[in-house]
Amino acid sequence: MRPIVFVAKSHLMEIREERNDLDILILAAGLGTRMRSDVVKVLHKLDGRPLIDHVCRTAASLAPRNVYVVIGHQGDAVKSAVSRVLGEDNVRFAVQRSQNGTGDAVNAAREFLENEDATVLVLSGDVPMIRPETLSALIARHKSVGRAACSILSVDLADPFGYGRIIRDINGNFEKIVEQKDATDLERAVSEVNSGIYCFNAKKLFAALKDVENHNSQGEYYLTDVPALLRTSGETVLIYKHGDAGEIEGANNRVQLADLERFVRTRTITRMMLEDGVTFVDPKNAYVSEDSAVGRDTVIYPNVTIEGDSVIGKGCVIRSGTRIVNSNIADDVEILDNCLIADSTVGEGCKIGPMAHLRGNAVMAEGSKVGNFVELKKTTLGKGSKANHLTYLGDANIGERTNIGAGTITCNYDGKNKHQTNIGSDVKIGSDTMLVAPVSVGDGASTGAGSVVTKDVEPGELVVGVPAKKRTKA
Ligand code: UD1
Ligand code: MG
Repeated sequence: MRPIVFVAKSHLMEIREERNDLDILILAAGLGTRMRSDVVKVLHKLDGRPLIDHVCRTAASLAPRNVYVVIGHQGDAVKSAVSRVLGEDNVRFAVQRSQNGTGDAVNAAREFLENEDATVLVLSGDVPMIRPETLSALIARHKSVGRAACSILSVDLADPFGYGRIIRDINGNFEKIVEQKDATDLERAVSEVNSGIYCFNAKKLFAALKDVENHNSQGEYYLTDVPALLRTSGETVLIYKHGDAGEIEGANNRVQLADLERFVRTRTITRMMLEDGVTFVDPKNAYVSEDSAVGRDTVIYPNVTIEGDSVIGKGCVIRSGTRIVNSNIADDVEILDNCLIADSTVGEGCKIGPMAHLRGNAVMAEGSKVGNFVELKKTTLGKGSKANHLTYLGDANIGERTNIGAGTITCNYDGKNKHQTNIGSDVKIGSDTMLVAPVSVGDGASTGAGSVVTKDVEPGELVVGVPAKKRTKA
């Protein structure tokens, strides 16, 4: 796995020096009723990773003092998703027992933060597109006004439906946030919305939170009531209006999630075409994860999926229907139609498919070839070796320049355990050979068509029959 590089080191140092009082609080306890799902919303995937994974990466890139995550529904699963990104020791969890709203969620982290003279950046687990640069700008704005109790990140939306609206007073200053369901028609006409992302002074946030009530259409404790309470008690509340509405889009239902998915994919593929010199025959019908890399002059045909942190070299051709997951493909590899390559490594100049399957750490060395209906599992195929048709090679080590005949099977499983097959270099395995593992075939040996090999074959030997026996070569 490649390490995740969040930001350039020099940038990190700068942020650390400026923001040593920064704590981040991520809200991720809600079920997400609008997803109509048995899976909690923040675990739904965007670009192959849980929504919460995106938010955690962004949080980490700001190098905060502490990250707190509020969990509730399916808390253990959310906890593991968060720990995978941040590392168990770099995050603390607050449990919200019953989900009574975003204000109640923040309240769950009271014991960690209420006495801290900290700047708390509140993020939503379901707003995954927000960029670190935007958050840095929000924090800088918040800090530029010495006594600011709260700074709200807002944007103008052409269709603000569903979001909380920012209501300003006649001087254009912050007055209150009104939720869609509680808003009057006049308020609903406001296009400026609350992103759900805020900076607070920790002490002031938790003091005001005590006064939040649940007299609203949803009977919930809204975090969005806190800024107005602060303002009423004479505190400074700022609005930081951001230009890019796309960054604050939430994934509240599956339509919004699909919109975000399309946005991320398009961004990745466009970058690969413009910056990395990759050809996409039909960019709208290719799916490449943001964490993958593809080399110059590689051609990707329609309906190809590249997932995880796959690395594809230069000058490759990947035909339609192929899916590549967490794999390394070297330069000048040709992958024909409908192959599945997972957790595997493919060397320079290899040819694969159509309809081949590599999995479980399969390794194809330089110039080797795997043809149609061939499966490789936990198997190394040496330099220039070939398995061209209808073959299963599992738990096997194959040397160089060896030819595996059509229909060859490694019988690697005895019903309880898996066993190893070792095949040397310059070997000719006849069509339809069964290799009953554990078994070895020495360098330069051959097996006859249809042989069932139950005993080791010496180098240079020819075996034939069922069970296979030694025969002198003609
Ligand atoms: C919220 C804001 C809204 C804003 C929008 C931006 C409130 C009341 N409304 O609405 O003004 O425009 O975000 O995306 O805050 N959560 C909990 N516990 C709960 C409820 C929610 O942890 O009891 C978490 C959710 O998991 C989610 C986040 O808080 O990650 C936001 O909750 P959600 O229900 O999506 O709020 P919105 O309706 O989107
Ligand atoms: Mg939301």
